Amino acid sequence: MAFTLPFLNGASRKKRTQMIAVDLGSRTTKAVLLEKRGEILALTRYALLDAPIFEKKISPELLADHLRSVADALGNTTKFITVAVGIDDAVVRQIELPQIPLDEMRQVLKVNHKNYLQQDLPGHVFDCYIIPPRLDKNAPANSGIPKLKVLAAAARQQLITDFMKATMLAGLIPESLVPGLIGPINTFELALPEIYEKETVALVDIGFKHTSVSVLDRSELVLNRMVNLGGDQLTQGLADSMGISYAEAEGIKVGMAPEVEAGLQSQVIPLGREIRASLDFFEHQNDRPVSQVYVSGGSARSEMILQMLHQEMLVECKTWNPTGFLQLALPGQQAVEVDHIGPQLTVAVGAALAAF
Ligand SMILES: Nc1ncnc2c1ncn2[C@@H]1O[C@H](COP(=O)(O)OP(=O)(O)OP(=O)(O)O)[C@@H](O)[C@H]1O
Ligand SMILES: [Mg+2]
Repeated sequence: MAFTLPFLNGASRKKRTQMIAVDLGSRTTKAVLLEKRGEILALTRYALLDAPIFEKKISPELLADHLRSVADALGNTTKFITVAVGIDDAVVRQIELPQIPLDEMRQVLKVNHKNYLQQDLPGHVFDCYIIPPRLDKNAPANSGIPKLKVLAAAARQQLITDFMKATMLAGLIPESLVPGLIGPINTFELALPEIYEKETVALVDIGFKHTSVSVLDRSELVLNRMVNLGGDQLTQGLADSMGISYAEAEGIKVGMAPEVEAGLQSQVIPLGREIRASLDFFEHQNDRPVSQVYVSGGSARSEMILQMLHQEMLVECKTWNPTGFLQLALPGQQAVEVDHIGPQLTVAVGAALAAF
């Protein structure tokens, strides 16, 4: 059961055997090609490409060119494509709604989103995902019909229209559009099912300018926070403190030269503090500790960064393998590199799961 907030095609979706899933990150586009082989899902290709332009809105034509490059890089074996959009393009919140059908939920949000999502969202479309209720033995017997916990998402209608246009122009068939935020959650559920079911953990995705923090308490998404720090600030801070260019700083950060350690540490500390603050917030409200932090995103490829986060947050921070539950059927070099690149593919894999 993956979280799906498809925005398009919804119920009419047919079963596909192959799917391209693209994570349109603000710095790096990540794409995977997944294939259904009976009950098994296989990862047959992946690709990392520079994002077309970051910081600026991109036209449907430019996006089409980019999606074409993605499809080419994956070998052009299917036209079906699912795209995960970033946090600037989709609002996601957990809310409570009465027990009404899904269609009505969408309608309620359309009319009352200002109440439920605490912001005015003109020209948006809304989607909902009902979080399966956990059996709560301590719930009072006569508490009436409980409300449902719902993951609500909103995206601009224009974004969806542009996305449809871009995929058509690229000769592809749009299957669904998912908020990137739910990518790591979908993947985690299948990659580490026991922990997902039984423990209280945080999923942290360190992106380019943002880091998302999701606390999962025994399979329930209980907290979602955005921190405005990411790999970009790590590199920029390093460049400033060492008096070198951004490109040089990026090179030594990724290369993890030992001399980078002190400089990098002082950049990672603020990120660690912000994540810790989110965990503290959850822990104080719920009186439960977050036992482990699972980190994904480009920066999670660095063992050094993970160790620094661990030190700062005083809770175990580790990377995890988002492809471990997939059958790997990758061509030569990709098969060798997948373990290393894995943390950066987490959102793309999760988006694919939402579409199958
Ligand atoms: N081996 C590595 N060590 C450290 N940092 C790395 C490594 N590989 C990539 N990065 C960093 O990861 C960042 C990009 O990560 P990612 O691809 O997760 O971001 P994004 O998805 O494009 O951004 P966002 O999620 O914010 O839209 C870059 O800042 C890059 O420096
Ligand atoms: Mg990202």
